[in-house]
Amino acid sequence: MEYKTSLSNLGVVVSVRGSVVDIRFDEQLPPIYSLLRAGKDGCVAIEVLAQLNAHLVRGIALTPTQGLARGMVVEDTGGPLKAPVGKAILSRMFDVFGNVIDRQPAPSAVEWRTVHRAPPPLARRSTKSEIFETGIKVIDVLAPLERGGKAGLFGGAGVGKTVLLTEMIHNMIGHHEGVSIFCGIGERCREGEELYRDMKEAGVLPNMVMVFGQMNEPPGSRFRVGHAALTMAEYFRDDEHRDVLLLIDNIFRFIQAGSEVSGLMGQMPSRLGYQPTMGTELSGLEERIANTDTGAITSIQAVYVPADDFTDPAAVHTFSHLSASIVLSRKRASEGLYPAIDPLQSSSKMATPGIVGERHYGLAQEIRRTLAQYEELKDIIAMLGLEQLSPEDRNVVARARRLERFLTQPFFTTEQFSGISGKLVSLKDTLDGCERILRDEFKDYPESALYMIGTIAEAKGKAKPGPPAASAEPESKTEAKTDPKPAAESPAKATPEPHPVLGAKPQPKVEHAADTHES
Ligand SMILES: Nc1ncnc2c1ncn2[C@@H]1O[C@H](COP(=O)(O)OP(=O)(O)OP(=O)(O)O)[C@@H](O)[C@H]1O
Ligand SMILES: [Mg+2]
Repeated sequence: MEYKTSLSNLGVVVSVRGSVVDIRFDEQLPPIYSLLRAGKDGCVAIEVLAQLNAHLVRGIALTPTQGLARGMVVEDTGGPLKAPVGKAILSRMFDVFGNVIDRQPAPSAVEWRTVHRAPPPLARRSTKSEIFETGIKVIDVLAPLERGGKAGLFGGAGVGKTVLLTEMIHNMIGHHEGVSIFCGIGERCREGEELYRDMKEAGVLPNMVMVFGQMNEPPGSRFRVGHAALTMAEYFRDDEHRDVLLLIDNIFRFIQAGSEVSGLMGQMPSRLGYQPTMGTELSGLEERIANTDTGAITSIQAVYVPADDFTDPAAVHTFSHLSASIVLSRKRASEGLYPAIDPLQSSSKMATPGIVGERHYGLAQEIRRTLAQYEELKDIIAMLGLEQLSPEDRNVVARARRLERFLTQPFFTTEQFSGISGKLVSLKDTLDGCERILRDEFKDYPESALYMIGTIAEAKGKAKPGPPAASAEPESKTEAKTDPKPAAESPAKATPEPHPVLGAKPQPKVEHAADTHES
C-alpha cells in the first residue's frame, strides 16, 4: 500500500453511517479530496468530500468500513488519492488504489500522481478527423469511429455491450501502436478476470494496463476508478507521447456510483433520483479524454441504458460527450441479428462526405434510406402481408432484409458458443458488399446466404441460387474475375449448406486472417 503519512495530522472518527464517515480534526482540517486512513494498517481509506465546520470533515470511504468505530484515530495522508504511472505499469492489473491485483510483485519504478487532474486547456487541444477502422461492418459503414474520439456503445441489460467492446479490443489492439487501458467500472469481476486471461493469451498484454473497481466494491471506489485510469492514460499521452486507447465498461456505473455517493452525502436528488451534480461529474471525467499535440486518447465506452429508456438523464448526458454513438437494440438481439446495432439510431460525427468520402457517404445514406423505408413498410406487411405491397416496395423490402443480414457478423469473442469463427472485414469489402446488394445482385440468393458472413464473396459459397438465378451466375463469375479474392475463395466454399444459418461450418481461420490484414 503506497501512501505517505504527514507526521502529525490526526483526527477522530465521530460517526460512521455506511460509507459516510465524519471525522473531527482539532488542529488542521484536511482539504477537500484529502485521503485519510484509519483502522489496522490504514485499511480503511476515506476521501474528504466536505468540510462541515471548523473541526469536522465528512468523507466517503473507498473501502468497506467494517470495523471502523467512533473514537478511532484517523490519519491524514497529506495528499489526495494517487495512481501509479510509469512504463512499469504496462501489462499489469490494478485496483483503484494502484495496488496490483494480478498476484505478481508490485512494480518498483513508478511515480504516484494525484487522480484529480484538470482537463487540458483549450490551447493544448487538437483534433484531426481520421477514421478508426474496427473491422466490424455495420460500425465502419454507418457509424465510423474517430481516431482520438469518444464512442459510446449504448444498450439495455444483456444486449451485447460487453461482447462488442471485447470484440473491438480484439480487432484493434493488435494494430494499435499505442497503449491500451481497460477500465472496469462496476461490472462483473468475472469479466475482468476473463479479459485479463484473453489478453494474456493473445499476447497483447505488454501494451495494456487494466484498472478495476467492480460491482462488489463500495461506491467511493467505483466513483474514483475512472479517474485513476485517466491519470494513467494522461501519463502515456503527455509524458511518453503515445496514443492511448481507453476502454471503459461501464460509464453508467460511474454515474450510478456518483449518485450513490451523493445520496450518502445527503444531497437533494435531482431528476429521476440522479445526483444534481451529474453533469459536472461526468464532464469532469469525459473532458479529460482529450487529444493534445503530444498524443491522442481514443475512448470506447459501454453505456448501460436503464430500462432501455434512451431519454434517461444518464444516457442523455453521456450522448452529448461522444463523437460516435452506437445503439444496441433488444429487438435485433431477439431476432439474432448480432451485433444487435440499430443502424438507424446509431450515428457518428465522422459520417460526412468530407471525411469518409463521397462514395462511402452516398452508400451509407442509401443504406439508411432503404432500411428506413423497410421500417415504415413493416406495419403494412404485418397487417396486409407482403403480397399487398407494390413491386417497388417489395424490392425495397428484399434489399433491406439482405442488407440487414449482410450487416451481421460472426465475432471472435463468441466463437465458442456460436460455433462460427470470427471475421474481420475491411471497410472496402463492406462497402463493395453493400453496393452490390443495393444493386440487387443478390436478389435471387436466399436471405440466409448473407447471414453471419464476412465479405460478400462468402455468400456465393454458402448458397447456390436456384434456377431463376441462372442469370445471376454468369454475372457473378465475370465479377469474380475482376476481383481475385472471391475467385480464390469460391472453390473452397462451393458446397451448398443444407441449413445455411446454423449449419455453417467454422471456416478455416488462416484463410480469413490472410484476407483481413490486406487493407
Ligand atoms: N455478437 C454476438 N453474437 C452472439 N451472441 C451475442 C453477441 N452479442 C451478445 N450476445 C449474447 O448476449 C449475451 C449478453 O451479452 P453481453 O454480456 O455483452 O451484454 P451486456 O450488454 O454487456 O449486458 P450487461 O448490461 O448485463 O453487462 C451474451 O452472453 C451472448 O449470449
Ligand atoms: Mg456487460
